[in-house]
Amino acid sequence: MLSRRANLDSRICVLGGTGFIGQRLCHRLAQAGYDILVPTRNPARDRPLLASPGVQLRIYNQVDTKSLVRLMQQCGTVINLVGILNERGHSGKGFERAHVALAESLIEACAELGIRRVVQVSALKASAERGPSHYLRTKGQAEQIIAAGRQHGIHHTIFQPSVVYGPHDSFLNRFGKLLQLSPLLPLPKPTARFAPVHVDDVVNAITRALTDEKAIDQTYELCGPDTLTLQQIVTFIRDTLGLKRLIIPLPDSVGFAQAFVCDYLVPGKPFSLDNFRSLTVASVCSKNGFARLGIKPREFRAAAHQILDAREPQLTRIRRISGR
Ligand SMILES: NC(=O)c1ccc[n+]([C@@H]2O[C@H](COP(=O)([O-])OP(=O)(O)OC[C@H]3O[C@@H](n4cnc5c(N)ncnc54)[C@H](OP(=O)(O)O)[C@@H]3O)[C@@H](O)[C@H]2O)c1
Repeated sequence: MLSRRANLDSRICVLGGTGFIGQRLCHRLAQAGYDILVPTRNPARDRPLLASPGVQLRIYNQVDTKSLVRLMQQCGTVINLVGILNERGHSGKGFERAHVALAESLIEACAELGIRRVVQVSALKASAERGPSHYLRTKGQAEQIIAAGRQHGIHHTIFQPSVVYGPHDSFLNRFGKLLQLSPLLPLPKPTARFAPVHVDDVVNAITRALTDEKAIDQTYELCGPDTLTLQQIVTFIRDTLGLKRLIIPLPDSVGFAQAFVCDYLVPGKPFSLDNFRSLTVASVCSKNGFARLGIKPREFRAAAHQILDAREPQLTRIRRISGR
C-alpha cells in the first residue's frame, strides 16, 4: 500500500538532504527519476545540489509543524537525515530540538498532509533508554516517535548505520587532516570499535527501501563487513597517506580530559564530552540489515584507499612515491 503511494507520488522530501549522505542520496534519487525537494536553512551554501536536475531547494528557518506542512505539500514520501553530532551548549536541548522536536513536527505534518511513508536515518546503538550520550538518546527518542506514526497510518523504515565514510566525509578526511597537522596524534578511545560503512551502500539501502514492501515498518542496522578499532582505522589512514606520524592511544582518564577541553575551550567543538560518551558503546551490528536488503556492502580498506588516494595532493603523492 505504502510503496504504491511512494510510486504514485514520485516527489520525495529529503530533510537534511544538503549533508554528506543527503547530497549523495539526492543525486541518486534524481537519477532514478524521482522529483526531490530539499528544505535547507542555507541555500547559498548548498547550491551544488541544484546541479542535479530534479532537485529543488527550499528555504526554511523553523522546523515546526506549520513550516513542514507548507513545505511538504506535494510530497508522497519523506526521508529524514537531519542530525547533529554536537550542540551549542551542553544541556542536551540542541540535540532535542534537532532530533526529537523535529521528529514530532514531522509526524504531525505527515498526519495532516496524509503522507504515509517516512524513512528515518538514525544511528547504530541509538536508544532512548540506554544511549550513553545526548546524541544516541535523542536519536533513540526520534526513532520511537517516527515508529509511533503508525497510529496515524504513517509507515516507517529506520536505518541505523555505523560510522559512514565516503568522498568528502568528515571521518577519513578529518583524521587525514589531523594527521597532516602534527607529528603526534593523541587518540581518545583508541579501542572503540566500528564497522565503517560506505556512503553509497547506505544510499543503496535507502533507495531500495523506497520500493521494497518488505522494508515497511522495519529497522535495519547498517554495517560494513569489517570491524576495526579507532586506532586501527587511524593507523590505516596514516599509512595510506604515507605519513610518518606517532599515534598516541590515550587512556580513558586522559581522553575524557581532552574531550572536556575541546568541549568547553576550543571554538567549533572539534570533539566533545558527548562524542566521548557515544564512543563508549561499540558501533557494530548485532544483525546487519544489508543481508535482509540483498546488498553486499563494500570492504573498508579497498574503498577507503581509493577515497584517500583521491584527496592526496599531487605534490605530496609525487614526494611520497619518490621517497622525498
Ligand atoms: N555520517 C555518519 O558517519 C553517520 C553515522 C551514523 C548516522 N548518521 C546519521 O545520518 C544522518 C545524515 O548524516 P550526515 O553525515 O549526512 O550529516 P551532515 O552532513 O551533518 O548533514 C546533516 C544535515 O542536517 C541539516 N541540519 C543540521 N542541523 C539541523 C537543525 N537543527 N535543523 C534542521 N536541519 C538541520 C543540515 O542541513 P542545512 O544546514 O542545509 O539546513 C545538514 O545538511 C544524520 O541524522 C546522522 O546522525 C551519520
